[in-house]
Parts: sequence; structure tokens; C-alpha cells
Amino acid sequence: MNVGILNAGGDCPGLNAVIEGAVGAATARGWTVYGFYDGFEGLLSTEQDERWRILTPANCLNIRSAGGTILGTVNKGNFTVKSGIDGRVKIADEVLRKSRETVDRLGLEALIVVGGDGSQTIGLELRQIGLPIVGVPKTIDNDLGSTDYTFGFWTAVSVVSANLDRLRTTAESHQRMMVVEVMGRHAGWIALYGGISGGADVILIPEIEFKLEEVVRKVELLKALGQREILVVVSEGAKIGGKLLTLDEETEGEVRLGGIASFLSTKLETITGIETRYCVLGHVQRGGSPIPFDRVLGVRCGAKAIDLIEEGRFGDTVALARNEIVSMPIEEAVSQLHLVDEKSQLVEAAKEIGISFGDE
Ligand code: F6P
Repeated sequence: MNVGILNAGGDCPGLNAVIEGAVGAATARGWTVYGFYDGFEGLLSTEQDERWRILTPANCLNIRSAGGTILGTVNKGNFTVKSGIDGRVKIADEVLRKSRETVDRLGLEALIVVGGDGSQTIGLELRQIGLPIVGVPKTIDNDLGSTDYTFGFWTAVSVVSANLDRLRTTAESHQRMMVVEVMGRHAGWIALYGGISGGADVILIPEIEFKLEEVVRKVELLKALGQREILVVVSEGAKIGGKLLTLDEETEGEVRLGGIASFLSTKLETITGIETRYCVLGHVQRGGSPIPFDRVLGVRCGAKAIDLIEEGRFGDTVALARNEIVSMPIEEAVSQLHLVDEKSQLVEAAKEIGISFGDE
């Protein structure tokens, strides 16, 4: 059997582990794996411009420990997508036709799409023209409703936690407040877990509307109690006065979120008089080697994708449910975002240990 694999959308620690898992499981069955370069763009290969290579256990040996993806990825390009809360997908007929041609020319009997909600929705479009798609969910944001955790998420949380440890020491030395902006788009998972782990005093996330006065009240209280350093963690997608801060206008892809830490830092310093600095952790959360959990999850997802192909379960995606790798239709998997529930045990516990969400 000939099987293709591609990553699409933003990269994520653990992508290489998925590739290695899939290649290992496919090779054990005597199958051949074609790895497409640069996401769906690889499907636009021609005989004059091939954008794939054969993947073998030898050329994928121990890539599970490496960050990024050996295949490359893109989150813009010919397969334009806008994902998230108001997700939609547009793919030109010509692009669909060329993708189909490549799959036929290479004799692929299955194509594994490793991607987030936007990429899985593109996968569905390809499924609708008859391509044999199997999905593997990917995102550091952990915002896919279908799976308990996506690989890459816990690596991102570890990065946030480790950096908060560093920021605390410098903030303490100078009696400063640090406002730390983290990724996650419309979901506050990275801020929530990273903030709890790293000892944030305030965590601001998209799912819980915050009031600036409340953040100020908390900060002033901590100062009055003699705390030298104050850590505020804010999700890039947290809204201020109902408004989302963005770095640029929407073009053909997703709008880039960002700017809230800088905005808040100026506001909080002006109101409280506490010297404040901000830090945008940005892409360090996505780069580098995956932590063991994400390596293991990635390898398991890759191997499970091959099982699904063997069972002819096209149009399904793998998912993690109570530590078992299961599967479900891609439609179901992308139908809802996995967002933080403000009434959850986790948020309640964070509040009990004194973390403010700026809401009360
Ligand atoms: O979806 C993953 C993510 O890292 C988001 O957390 C972030 O908003 C976005 O991608 C950044 O995308 P880009 O790499 O295009 O700047």
C-alpha cells in the first residue's frame, strides 16, 4: 500500500514523533510512505517539481526527539483557510483537481493529514472529492473538542512554566510586575496550566471576561501584603473591554493575535505606580524538542493513523480519550472548540489558591 503524510498549519512539538510512528507502523506492514513537503502545498507536485520524498525507518530514526517538522509546513498558501470560532474554508477547484491528480499519479491509497481544526477542515474538503483522508489532531493550543490533549500542548505549558520561573527572579530583584503574554488563540489552556504551574498571581484568558479594576485590586493587595514580585499571565486572545488585540489586518489566513501584554503593562503601571515590564513568549512556546509526553502521544497517534487506514476508516481522525487512542469522524472532531469552562474544578482550584482571573 502507498500512504502519504503531511503536516499543515503552524508547527508543533511532536510532529516528527507522529511521522516516525506512522512510518514505523506502515513499514511493519510492508507499506511505502510518501512525505509531502510544506503542508498541502506538497500535493501540488508535478513530475517536474516533485515536493515529497519516501520516508523510511532509517531516514526517520529518532526524529521523535526533534522539534519542528522534517517535512516543513505552511499555514497560508493555495489551501487558504481561516479556522477558529468563525471557521470557514475556501479551496479553488483547480487546487482540488491538482491534489487529486497527485494522489492518483503516485498511487496513494491513503493520506494522513496532521493538523489543527483548519487543516482538518481542508482534509474534509479533500475527502469530499474522494481522497482517502485520515486525520491526526495537532495544536499547542489544545483547543480541539475531540481529544483530551493534543501533542505539543504540554511542551508549550512547560516552556511557559520554566519562563515564569525565570521572570519571577528578575521581577523579585527589582520589585517589579511582569505581564507575560502566551499563545493559545481563542483558548486559555496554555495560560491556565502554564500560569498555575509557574505561580502566576493573575491569569487572564479569553473564556473569562476580566475587569481592569479587579486586576488592579489584586495587584495592590499583593503589594500591600509585601509581595515583591507580581506575575500576570495573559492569553493573546484575552479581550480587553470586549476587544481582541491583533497585530495586523486579516489577509488570506488567520488574523495574528497579540499586543495585550504591552497594552496591559502600560495601563497597570500607570494606575498602580508599580514598575512593570512585559514579555511576549511567542514562538519559543512552539519551538524546540517535545517533552516525553508529547513524543509518546505523537508516536501513538502516528501508529493509530496507520491502524485506521488498515481498517478503511477514511474520514476519521485519531483522538486521545482517557489515555486511549480512539477515533471519530473528522466532522465531529472539528465541530466544536475545546475551551476553558470558568466553572471547572481547575479554575475553582486556581481561585482557591489565590489566583485571580480578574473577574471577581
Ligand atoms: O495555533 C497555534 C498558534 O501558535 C497560536 O497559538 C498562535 O496564535 C498562532 O499559532 C501563531 O501563528 P503564526 O506562527 O502564524 O504566527
